[in-house]
Amino acid sequence: MTLKLGVLVSGSGSNLQAILDACANKTLDASVELVLSNKPGVFALERAARAGVATAVLSHKDFSTREAFDAEIVRLLRARSVDTVALAGFMRIVTPTLLDAFASRVINVHPALLPSFVGVDAQRQALEYGAKITGCTVHFVDAGTDTGPIIAQAAVPVLEDDTVEALRARVLVEEHRLLPLALQWLAEGRLSLDGRRVRVRPLAHAST
Ligand code: GAR
Repeated sequence: MTLKLGVLVSGSGSNLQAILDACANKTLDASVELVLSNKPGVFALERAARAGVATAVLSHKDFSTREAFDAEIVRLLRARSVDTVALAGFMRIVTPTLLDAFASRVINVHPALLPSFVGVDAQRQALEYGAKITGCTVHFVDAGTDTGPIIAQAAVPVLEDDTVEALRARVLVEEHRLLPLALQWLAEGRLSLDGRRVRVRPLAHAST
């Protein structure tokens, strides 16, 4: 099933770009219907505009509660017939108002191997903790912070002379590979939940 994606962003949008590129080169069976940012002027909006994708800016500061903010996001996504939501560097905690509207269809990419280093600045957390391996995680979003069922992970080494920026860049390479891949598994209907374990069904062999 071709996914009708809503992509929520707050920053540079390199993960959004990976999704747009994967749609364009047909490795991801999806179309991005709306890119929504909670911050004006971020580069992600420019990337969306260049790709001819509709954008919206909705500042969380204009809403008195997280739920009211999420209700407006849901309204905007539904107006574009979105069926799947990707959080691609969206730096806000989402509430059941959004999660219930898109049950089991909200996916996040996090720049660490969950359950390690949740929340903001995960690459700095990993470096300062002294981890030798970190990475990224693509997961279904639940009401906790970075606690939802894990779809895919990729490991990235922490090097001796790493800076946060160098590590961030190395992790991003894997994020850009993993997020479109996980979305494609969803598009192919290959993901199922077994408790909190996500099963990825193998592709059926083509019949000859
Ligand atoms: C990415 O590293 C993403 O994993 C992270 O923000 C960055 C956004 O980069 N997300 C979080 O930390 C969420 N907790 P991008 O705007 O270039 O895609």
